[in-house]
Amino acid sequence: MSKTFQFILLYFVLAVLHSPCSADPPYPYCSNVTSSILFQNNLNQFFSYLSTSASLSIFKNFTIGNETDRVYGLFLCLGFVTLDNCKKCVDTAIQDIIELCPNNEEATVWEEYCQLRYSNKSFFGHTDDAGNLPLWNRKNISDPYKFRHVVRELLNNLSSLAAFDPSMGMYAIGKANLTIDETVYGLVQCTRDLSGNDCFKCLKDATDEILSCCYFYRGARLLSRSCYLRYELYAFYEGAVEAFPPPPSTGN
Ligand SMILES: *[C@@H]1O[C@H](CO)[C@@H](O)[C@H](O)[C@H]1NC(C)=O
Ligand SMILES: *[C@@H]1O[C@H](CO)[C@@H](O)[C@H](O)[C@H]1NC(C)=O
Ligand SMILES: *[C@@H]1O[C@H](CO)[C@@H](O)[C@H](O)[C@H]1NC(C)=O
Repeated sequence: MSKTFQFILLYFVLAVLHSPCSADPPYPYCSNVTSSILFQNNLNQFFSYLSTSASLSIFKNFTIGNETDRVYGLFLCLGFVTLDNCKKCVDTAIQDIIELCPNNEEATVWEEYCQLRYSNKSFFGHTDDAGNLPLWNRKNISDPYKFRHVVRELLNNLSSLAAFDPSMGMYAIGKANLTIDETVYGLVQCTRDLSGNDCFKCLKDATDEILSCCYFYRGARLLSRSCYLRYELYAFYEGAVEAFPPPPSTGN
């Protein structure tokens, strides 16, 4: 490899490593431009349905058009977001996905409180970890091994609730004690087209991924196309009603 090429490569590696923690949303995941005009028309129709739907519920999946040019799409707002804000978030996501991934065969965009995804192939009921994006709060934690343990247990408890308790709607928030005066707050959520088992698997993989890259940071998120998780040392979902997972076991 030439020195210039190595330098360019290093630059991109660093850019990729550093962008997630500093950049603000939107976070796009694009593919290729489609040549199908019919698909583009269906896509426009999909966008026009979205905004209304997002004022009625925090999740909906859509199938629009005939077999060959069909659009499969969905939006998901975080469980604590009001319908008003869900609609605002989805409206922003529509603008961003049109601008950042224009007329793609498939695309996803994550905003602060929602995600929007579409494809020319059906993806409902399948988890997909391509494009998983970890984001973190740059500050280190003082006791990362204890923190990792507490976070893992919290996320695992919340994941079980979200995946297997039908009353939760594939979403759970809760907290656990880290020290006497420090609490860690967590949120997990899946797209509601998934089965309980797939939701759990998505969140388990997301937990493993975030706790291998980012366990020494004070807070982190993992954006996946099928699920979402986040933990912080503050109640980032302030005001929302927590599910209370069993208290963390003592002595570790
Ligand atoms: C884009 O198209 C090329 C050529 O058809 C294909 O090899 C590639 O996998 C596509 N990329 C995505 C992200 O779909
Ligand atoms: C944070 O912790 C990681 C892992 O222990 C370490 O590699 C990194 O240098 C630390 N960063 C700072 C700013 O202390
Ligand atoms: C939404 O997803 C579910 C679960 O995979 C599927 O059965 C249903 O047909 C989808 N709805 C639409 C409108 O595509």
